[in-house]
Amino acid sequence: MRHIHCLNKISKSGLAVLPDTYQLTDQIDQADAILVRSAVMHDMTLPSSVLAVARAGAGVNNIPLDTYAQKGVVVFNTPGANANAVKELTLAGMLLAVRDIHGGMNWLAENRQDPDVQKTIEKVKSRFGGTEILGKTIGIIGLGAIGRKLAEACLALGMKVIGTDRNLKQFEDNKLPTAITLTEDKESLYQASDFISLNLPLNDSTRHLINKETLAHMKEGVIILNFARDALVHDDDLETAIQSGKVHRYVTDFPNARTANMTGVIAIPHLGASTEEAEDNCASMAANQVVDYIENGNLTNAVTYPDVHVGPRQGTCRIAIMYQESNGLSNTIQQKLAADHTIRQARHHMKSGYGYSLIDLEDQIKDDHIKAIEAFEGVIRVRVLV
Ligand code: MLT
Repeated sequence: MRHIHCLNKISKSGLAVLPDTYQLTDQIDQADAILVRSAVMHDMTLPSSVLAVARAGAGVNNIPLDTYAQKGVVVFNTPGANANAVKELTLAGMLLAVRDIHGGMNWLAENRQDPDVQKTIEKVKSRFGGTEILGKTIGIIGLGAIGRKLAEACLALGMKVIGTDRNLKQFEDNKLPTAITLTEDKESLYQASDFISLNLPLNDSTRHLINKETLAHMKEGVIILNFARDALVHDDDLETAIQSGKVHRYVTDFPNARTANMTGVIAIPHLGASTEEAEDNCASMAANQVVDYIENGNLTNAVTYPDVHVGPRQGTCRIAIMYQESNGLSNTIQQKLAADHTIRQARHHMKSGYGYSLIDLEDQIKDDHIKAIEAFEGVIRVRVLV
């Protein structure tokens, strides 16, 4: 029996995809894999039984990626599984920013006992007026699953869309509607946009992307939408920009102790992915990826290790090898195995300093051959799947 420990509440119907040979456990030290949403794992001691951590969601800044990679623990995420939910909440955030729905509803809550409320509404409603999004321009930074869906929805609502991404080349084969203006030049996006939506992961190169220098390029009265992570924005610089009127509204699904208390901020308590559909999708995708890894060694949506997917095992046994990227190591491993075994198929990939190989053998591997591979410098973990 394999054991899965959930660090956060994970959708039950999503977990229903787990085979009968898998059980949920409250005992983390029995776990073969961990499923997590936003629980912060940086200071956790990971039991040695854990082979994989799957984030039911896209953002992985709550997980110590490199530490786990060095231990041979695969981290998965579920890109796209909650994209529609986040897109829909972003659209709601745009409307909340341009129409004072919130102010109007608060006023009504305070005046609902007034017997003449219907008449009073007509007198006061001009206080809560707003503008429309039709014809306005949105600049979308990050054209992953959420950014692309948002771009399509904004076009359908009659907006102009400018998009940028760190890898625009991937869109050369028309994966995006041609009405989207793609640019590598963020400055021009800042200058032209009435709304700016941040749809990129938080890492060292994106932290404080929105700061006094980038804000200086933006239109007066810009609306910034942050449904990605709080630290993409420099809080002090944002506050100054809100106070000066440069930023009309900052809509965030990731408020912190500063932004939750700033005037001009519409703060939502991290609800972007909190729909039944998204929670089910993320949980089932995470669970399927973990099971395919534990059973077959396949990596799909691995964050640090490269994706390697060769379907079910062929031959008698499959060797799954994790290693630090190093010139020629995958060849050395394959040659070593080929000297003693018949190889049915072999696949090797590298990513961000780590390598992963799946090698199917016609015959059973002997213990001393496993030990010989483990002894190669740079090898992190060897698993034999039969
Ligand atoms: C994500 O990164 O996809 C979201 O933060 C998911 C969640 O709400 O757990």
